[in-house]
Amino acid sequence: MKENQHIPVLRQECTELLITRPGGRLLDGTVGMAGTSLALLEKAGPQAFLIGMDLDLESLRRARRVLSESAPNGHWGLVRASFARMDVVLGGGVGTFDAVLLDLGYSSVQLDDPRRGLSYAVDGPLDMRLSPVVGPPASEWVNQLPVAELADLIRCFGEERHAHRIARAIDNARRRAPILTTGALRDAISTVVPPRFRIKTLARVFQAIRIHVNRELEALEAALPAATRLLAPGGRLGVISFHSLEDRIVKRFMMHAAKDCICPPDFPACCCKHRATLRLVTRKPVRAGKSEISRNIRSRSATLRVAAKLSCELAA
Ligand SMILES: C[S@@+](CC[C@H](N)C(=O)[O-])C[C@H]1O[C@@H](n2cnc3c(N)ncnc32)[C@H](O)[C@@H]1O
Repeated sequence: MKENQHIPVLRQECTELLITRPGGRLLDGTVGMAGTSLALLEKAGPQAFLIGMDLDLESLRRARRVLSESAPNGHWGLVRASFARMDVVLGGGVGTFDAVLLDLGYSSVQLDDPRRGLSYAVDGPLDMRLSPVVGPPASEWVNQLPVAELADLIRCFGEERHAHRIARAIDNARRRAPILTTGALRDAISTVVPPRFRIKTLARVFQAIRIHVNRELEALEAALPAATRLLAPGGRLGVISFHSLEDRIVKRFMMHAAKDCICPPDFPACCCKHRATLRLVTRKPVRAGKSEISRNIRSRSATLRVAAKLSCELAA
C-alpha cells in the first residue's frame, strides 16, 4: 500500500448489502477518504445523494477532494460531527435515509500520521484525539490516571491480561518524566513485555487508550439507535467493526432490535410490549476473503453486520 493511502475494507460486500435499489439517500457516518462512499454512490447510480460525516477535519478535506474529482455531479455533502449525534445533526428527521454505514476505527492515513500519536509504530506526540472537542489528549490520561484506573482501562478496552503489570510500568516511567510521546509510552510498556509478545501487547494497549480518549464505545452505543431512527422503512444499517468490543455492541444491538419479545424465556406469556424495529440481513458477520486479506492485512480483523429497518416501526 502506498503511503497516504487508505484501502477501504469489505467495500464490495458493503455496497451489495446496503444498496438494494437505484437512487436513494445514503449516509456514510465515517466518510474517511471517501473510498466506500464512492462505491456506494456508484452502485446507487446518478440519482442517489450521499452525506459523508466525519469528526476529523483532515479526513473531510481528503473526502472533499476525492468526491469532487470522482463524483462531480454534486450529489453529496459533507458534515463535521460525531456519528454519535447523527440524528440530532441531521435535523432529527425520522426515516430519511435508505442506507447508513459506519466503518469504525481509523484510516491507515490517520494511523500512519505521527502528528496524531495514534500508533505505537510511529513516534509522535501522545495525543490520539480525532478532534479537540472529545476532551484531553492521551498524554493527560496516561500521566494522571491512578494506576488502578489505568490498569482497568487497559484490561477492559485492550482485553489485556497483564494490564496491572503494564500500568505499573507506565507509572514507574512517568515518575521519572512525563510520558509525552508515543515512543515514550512504547518504551515504558516494552520494559515488562517479552519481545515475542511485544507487538500484540502494544497494539492492545494503544487500542485501549484510543478507545478511552475518543470515547469510542459510548459513541457507537449512541450511534446505533440514532442510525435506526434515521432509516426509512426498508433502509439498511451496516457496521464494520475491527475488534470484538465493537462487534459485541453491534451484534447485541441488532439482535435485540430484531426481537419481537424480550421477556425471560420462562414467562408464560409476553408482557414486554417490545416490538422488532430491525430485521437481520446478515445472521453471521461477513468477513474479508483470502484475496482481500492478502491485498490489505487490515481487513483480517474486519466484520460487517447489516440489518434492515422494518416498515411498521417509525420511531425506535
Ligand atoms: C476506517 S475509517 C473510514 C474509511 C472510509 N470508509 C474510507 O473508505 O476511506 C474511519 C473514519 O471514521 C472517523 N471516525 C471515527 N470516530 C468517529 C466518530 N465518532 N464520528 C465521526 N467519525 C468518526 C475517523 O476519523 C475515520 O476517518
